[in-house]
Order: sequence, then structure tokens, then C-alpha cells
Amino acid sequence: MKLAPSILSADFAELAAEVDRVRDHADLLHVDVMDGHFVPNLTIGPPVVAALRRRTELFLDTHLMVDNPADLLDDFAKAGADRCIVHVELGDPRPCFDTMRARGMGVGLVFNPDTPLDAVEPYLGEIDLLLFMSVFPGFGGQAFIPSVLEKLEAARAIVDERGLAVELEIDGGINEETAPAAAAAGADILVAGSAIFHADDPAAAAGRIRAAAERGRSGRPAGGR
Ligand code: DX5
Ligand code: ZN
Repeated sequence: MKLAPSILSADFAELAAEVDRVRDHADLLHVDVMDGHFVPNLTIGPPVVAALRRRTELFLDTHLMVDNPADLLDDFAKAGADRCIVHVELGDPRPCFDTMRARGMGVGLVFNPDTPLDAVEPYLGEIDLLLFMSVFPGFGGQAFIPSVLEKLEAARAIVDERGLAVELEIDGGINEETAPAAAAAGADILVAGSAIFHADDPAAAAGRIRAAAERGRSGRPAGGR
């Protein structure tokens, strides 16, 4: 079970200190890039990723909520992003996959709560990561949408059955209460923003979410990962 704190809910004026606070409980760092067009919020871009890269060796998991990811992949690669994740709702993601691979980045695909699994299924053999949005993208602090768990379970079964290398990650509304169900449904990676960075002690909160996830995971039927 991996945990990816989302810096969207961190104090941007204290970003390096915020990353340090959760470092021991973070397997990756989730970076939410929003352009004010694909989603109605404007956050960070390549310069901030480059600044983070100078301050941490954590894997930078870069979620692109932008209208034109293809135009930005070079900049994120140069900034030091380890992986970019693009939305399937924008159309054929393969040109982005090719660029990500050519630039040495991991390849991630993400889909919204109301997008069916069928939309991403054709790409499962070509990606390193499939990200399930369990809120509509745009803002931290929203409530978890439980119906996403059915898609996660179905994808887990397909990935295990076909022996695919793709990891399954879930993003939105993850906290101590929702982490067990997400883990039980087959998530490999949990993203959590507000539940970590809005807590009095972010490291302790991250530890509790991980422990809750491990409890959920141990309840999974035999044969799962
Ligand atoms: C939402 C972002 C999420 C966000 C999650 O559009 O993609 O990564 O940071 O925040 P929480 O954990 O607060 O739902
Ligand atoms: Zn995200």
C-alpha cells in the first residue's frame, strides 16, 4: 500500500517544510496541476515542480488537469516530474503517452467519476498507472464518491487476471474513514490532500490513513495483490 500526499492542500508559502513534514509517510508526492479551463481552479505549473525537485527525492506524481497536456509535457519533464497523468476525457491519450515515454517519464491515465471503465480499458496494457477520481477534479476537501469503488474492483480483477503491470491509484476524499474501502477494492496507491495537510499533525494523520488502508487491504479476498 502506497500513500501519496497531495500538496494541493499544503501551505504553498511553506511548501518545502510541508513536504518534509510528511516525508517519512509518503511513498510519492501528488502534484495537482490545474489550468482554470479544464477545471475551474488555477494551481501550479512547471516552475513549482522544478523547485520541488530541488528539495525532495520523492517521486513526483503529476496530475494534469489542463486542456492541453501535450503542450506541457516537455516542460514537466525538464522540471523533473517522474510521471505525468493525463485525463482520458480529453480524447486519444496515446500521443501524450508517446511523449511521456520519450522524455523518460512514467505514463499515467486518469478518469472522472462519471467516466466508465470502458473508456480507459483499451489503454491498460500501455500505462504504468490508472488513476480513479473519487471526486470531480478541481478542488481538495470534497466528499468521497463511493460508486467509484465498483470500477476500481472491476479494474483490479482485469489487471490481476491479465497480469498487467499497471498500478491503481485513487484520488479524492481519501481519509481514515474511506481508506479501508479503497484499499479493499484494490487500490495500490491512495492520494490524500486535506486529510493530511489540514490535520494538526500531518505526519500522524498520514500514518493513521496508511494504517486504516492496511486494515482494509488485509480484508481483501485471497488471490488479490
Ligand atoms: C482534486 C485533486 C486531488 C485533491 C485531493 O481535483 O486531483 O488530488 O488534492 O484532495 P482531498 O484529498 O482533500 O480530496
Ligand atoms: Zn490529483
